[in-house]
Amino acid sequence: MNHFISSRTRNLSESQTIAMSKKSREMKESGIDVISLSLGEPDFNTPDFIKEAGKEGIDQNYTHYPPVAGYKDLREAISRKFLRDNKINYSPEQIVVSTGAKQCIANLMLSILNPGDEVLLPAPYWVSYKEAIKLAEGVPVIIPTSIDTDFKIDGATLEKYINPKSKMLIFSSPCNPTGSLYTKTELADLVNTLEKHENIISISDEIYELINFEGEHSSLASFDSIYDRVVTVNGVSKGFSMTGWRLGYLGAPLEIAKACDKMQGQFTSATSSISQRAAIAALNADPSEVDFMKEAFLNRRNLMKKGLEEIPGLEINTPKGAFYFFPKVDSLFGKKYENWTIKDGNDLCMYLLEEAHVGLVPGEAFGSPDYIRISYAASEENLNEALKRIKQAIIKLS
Ligand SMILES: Cc1ncc(COP(=O)(O)O)c(C=O)c1O
Repeated sequence: MNHFISSRTRNLSESQTIAMSKKSREMKESGIDVISLSLGEPDFNTPDFIKEAGKEGIDQNYTHYPPVAGYKDLREAISRKFLRDNKINYSPEQIVVSTGAKQCIANLMLSILNPGDEVLLPAPYWVSYKEAIKLAEGVPVIIPTSIDTDFKIDGATLEKYINPKSKMLIFSSPCNPTGSLYTKTELADLVNTLEKHENIISISDEIYELINFEGEHSSLASFDSIYDRVVTVNGVSKGFSMTGWRLGYLGAPLEIAKACDKMQGQFTSATSSISQRAAIAALNADPSEVDFMKEAFLNRRNLMKKGLEEIPGLEINTPKGAFYFFPKVDSLFGKKYENWTIKDGNDLCMYLLEEAHVGLVPGEAFGSPDYIRISYAASEENLNEALKRIKQAIIKLS
C-alpha cells in the first residue's frame, strides 16, 4: 500500500517526541511503571476561570463557524495583550488565530516559502520547524550551537549563514528544547544583523513567554527597525496549560497575516469556537494569575538541576525558562552494560527507557545528537524518582 503514500509524507519524519511518549505509554499500558519525561506538556489542569469561559461559550451558542482568523473580540484581546506584555502594536487585522501555534507555523511556511528558499534554523530547534520547512519545500539551513554558548547564536554568527537565498529565520525564546532565553541585549545584537537584510522575515516563537524565571520577556518585534519583518507566534498551550484546547496565534505584517488567513481558510477554517471564548478569558487576565505554574516549574528546575549535577557523565546548563533540561551526554557514548552498548543519544534514551523506565527524547530529534532532552513538566515526586532511576542506570555503564 506504500505506493499510495505521497513522497512528501514519506519524507516527513515522525515527531520523535510523540514517538517516545507513545512507546512510554505502551510500556505503561503493559503494566510497567514508566515515568515519562518526554512530552512538552504542563501537568496542570486549565485554570477554572478559563474553563468557565469555555462553558459559557457553549451556553451562549458559540457553536457555529467562527471567522477564519478568529473572533474579532479575541483578536482585540490578543492585540491588547501584545501591547501590554510585549510592547508590540498589532491591530486585530494583523492577528490570525489557529489550531495551536503549530498550525501558525505551518501556515507561515506554506504562505511565505517558495521551493528552494532557505530558512535559517539555529539548532537545537523545536522538532516541527524543520518538518514544516520541508513540507513547504524550503531548505533548512542549520546554525549549530552548543552548551558553551547556552545554545544561542549572536549577530556575527547569523551573518555567516545569510546568503541571497535566505528568506526566513525561525527560533524560540524561551527555547524548546534548551530552556535558554535571549536577553534584550542579545536580541539587539541579532537585530543589528537582521536590519541589514531586508529580504529576511524572522519568526519569533514566544510560546513559552510565561514560563520565564529571569523576569522580563523580550520580543523581537518590539525593535522598531525590523518590526515590519517579524512575525510573533504565541499561544495558550504552555502558559495557561491549555494544550488540548488547540489555540495559538500570530501577529504579523498585514500582508503576511492575510496570506495565513487565506491558507487557513482552505485547511481548517478556524480553530474551535469554544476554545476561542476560553482564550479571551486567559488573555484578558493579568498574567500573574498563572504565576503559580511558573513558580512550580522554577522549584522543579532547581530540584532537577541539583539532581542532574550529581549524575556522572551529564553536562548541564541552567535553563532560564520553559520546562526542559538539555544535557550533553556524549561522554557516555561507547559505554556498555550487559547487552547494551551506548553508541549515541538514541541508544541512551532507549537504555534509560528499558532499564530505568524513564522516557526521554534523544537530542538528534532537535538537531543536536550529543544531547538528550528531559522535560520536568511532572510532579516533584516523579522527578525525584526519575532522577534516582537515571542515576542508577548511568552508574552501571562503564
Ligand atoms: C517551541 C514550540 N512552539 C510551538 C509549539 C506548539 O504549540 P501548540 O500546542 O500551540 O501547537 C510547541 C509545543 O510543543 C513548542 O514547544
